[in-house]
Amino acid sequence: MKRFLVALTAMAFMSTTTFAADMTLPPPHSNDKLSVMQALSQRKSSRNFVDEALSPVQLSKILWAANGLNRENGKRTIPVALGVYSVEVYAVTSEGIFLYDAENHKLKLIAEGDFRSTTTTGQSFVNKAAVNLVYVETPDVWQNAKRVPPRDAQIAFANITVGAMIQSVALVAETEGLGNCVRGSINITAFKKAAKLSDGKNILLAQSVGKISD
Ligand SMILES: Cc1cc2nc3c(=O)[nH]c(=O)nc-3n(C[C@H](O)[C@H](O)[C@H](O)COP(=O)(O)O)c2cc1C
Repeated sequence: MKRFLVALTAMAFMSTTTFAADMTLPPPHSNDKLSVMQALSQRKSSRNFVDEALSPVQLSKILWAANGLNRENGKRTIPVALGVYSVEVYAVTSEGIFLYDAENHKLKLIAEGDFRSTTTTGQSFVNKAAVNLVYVETPDVWQNAKRVPPRDAQIAFANITVGAMIQSVALVAETEGLGNCVRGSINITAFKKAAKLSDGKNILLAQSVGKISD
C-alpha cells in the first residue's frame, strides 16, 4: 500500500510538473503586421511586462532576428567584423536558461529553472519578462579566424554586433506587439554561475522581451 501511494504521488508530481528540454524552434514566419518604418516609429523601451510565455513562433522570430541564419552560405541577420560570429545569445525564461544554436535554429537547455533574476541587478520587471536575452562574447572563436584583430578591436566588434542584435529584436518585438528593454545592469557573477559560462566569456548586454500590460 505504502509503495502504491509513493508511486501515485510520483505520478501526480510528473503530471503537474513540466520539465524543460532542448527546443526545436518553428520557422520564423514573416507574417508581420507592421512595416519596418512603422516598427521603427513605434520602437521604445517598455518595462510593464506581464508574466506570460511567448508563443513558439514569437520566440523563434525573436531569436532569428537576434542571430539567425538568413542565407544558404550560413551568414546571418546581423553583420559581423571579418565574418566571425563572436556573440552568443542566451534566452532566459521561466523554464530555464537556453543557448541559441543558430545553425540548427534550436534552443539548447543549459540549466532548468527560473533564473530570470540572475540577469538583473534588481530591476523587478525582469522577473516578469517572458524572455531575457543575454548577449555574451565568446573570444575563443577568433582562434580559427584568418586574421586575428587585437583584443580591444575584438571587444569593439562584439559590441557593434550586439547593437545590431538589439535593434533587430526591438523591431520584431514591435511587429509582434511585444515590449522590450535593453539592459546594461546585469548581475554578472550570478548569471555567469547560473549559465555555467567559462572564464573567457564576457557578458555584454541583456534585453527583456515579453507581453506588456496596456
Ligand atoms: C547600452 C544600454 C544599456 C541600457 N541599460 C538599461 C538598464 O540597465 N535598465 C533599463 O531599464 N534600461 C536600460 N537601457 C534603456 C534606456 O534607458 C533607454 O533606451 C533610453 O532611456 C531611451 O528610451 P527609449 O528606449 O524608450 O527610447 C539601456 C539602453 C542601452 C542602449
